Amino acid sequence: MTSDEPLARPTRTPDRPTGARVARWPFDEPTMLAPMEGVTHPVFRALTAERGGVGVVCTEFVRISRSPLSVRALEREVVKVPGVPLSVQVMGNDAEKMAEAAGVVAAAGADVVDINLGCPMPRVVKKGVGAAMLKDPALLYDVLSKMRAQVPGLLSAKIRAGFDDADDVVAIARVVEEAGADFIVVHPRRRADFYSGVADWRIVRTLKSELSIPVVGNGDVWYAADAVRMQEETGCDAVMIGRPALRNPWIFQQVRDLNRGVTPFRPSGADLFEHLLDVRVRYETIYRKTVGKMKELIRYVGRALDDERAFSKEALRAETLDDIMAIAERHLSPLPPEALDLDADGSLKLERSGSAALPATAA
Ligand SMILES: Cc1cc2nc3c(=O)[nH]c(=O)nc-3n(C[C@H](O)[C@H](O)[C@H](O)COP(=O)(O)O)c2cc1C
Repeated sequence: MTSDEPLARPTRTPDRPTGARVARWPFDEPTMLAPMEGVTHPVFRALTAERGGVGVVCTEFVRISRSPLSVRALEREVVKVPGVPLSVQVMGNDAEKMAEAAGVVAAAGADVVDINLGCPMPRVVKKGVGAAMLKDPALLYDVLSKMRAQVPGLLSAKIRAGFDDADDVVAIARVVEEAGADFIVVHPRRRADFYSGVADWRIVRTLKSELSIPVVGNGDVWYAADAVRMQEETGCDAVMIGRPALRNPWIFQQVRDLNRGVTPFRPSGADLFEHLLDVRVRYETIYRKTVGKMKELIRYVGRALDDERAFSKEALRAETLDDIMAIAERHLSPLPPEALDLDADGSLKLERSGSAALPATAA
């Protein structure tokens, strides 16, 4: 990637869209809970919001195909948590349908309408949507500018660094900006990387220096202190956090505390167990297969323990929720804060966060 790549001009240029444009980050906190399919349902969004410190919560992607829109189904996606703005993500490549869908979710109360330009899954890119749209700037411009015309509020796009390479990331981001997006989120891995290596925060820094709209950095912000560092190293306007918020449910609160100069909360094993109890109660209200969902979470939570395997192995073998919780209580409750990698600085350094200062391993 070079920052002086020529701008890929869209071949089809509809009238320049009009709509909201913001020069600065428009929310109180410079953080976002990332969209995560199968994870960021209303219950998880509420739980995250209640812990505090999160600026915006996102839905998982809503697939918009060529078939007629179900307005009701779309409106049902707009479930807000009091006091925390909601971003609703749509994914598709039919400009008319995407514009219609964007208008529906905006009218139903979404604070941000976001387009998914990063999903790497074969079932998605085969259909020419998600990350596949990074390969077609003209289509991207068409879709986004038509969405712009239907969204009176905030419009955003979430991109990866590229499909097979990161050479065109600046050109892609400029198309997003020119089509009228209010801000852009970048997960700086290529589609080809899926989740391998470590996110290349240098790309976040490059986009920040090339664009005039706010830039949100995402990827491998494993500790609260890393969110602060990402902003310092890249100049990005806000930080989006996904998997690390599954591993550490207090991460947004800790980022806010660091930004305010307050000593961040440092959870103990008993706090972590209490969190799992809370999750259990809430998940039981929405899932029939709560065991699977709880195990999904335990895979992340377990990563915060020095001796991860003893806990995770036993919990993942359990067959009932009661057994999982008993195992969690036995392993977690006695642990002092120092035995967990959940402090704002990540003193045990069990995870590897990104950096704009080091050579990337992913690109
Ligand atoms: C289980 C899972 C589901 C995801 N679903 C979505 C999605 O629906 N839309 C999207 O834009 N990104 C999705 N992502 C990508 C995340 O939003 C985020 O970009 C990625 O996990 C890197 O950030 P992190 O290191 O903070 O997790 C998903 C990631 C995971 C792990």
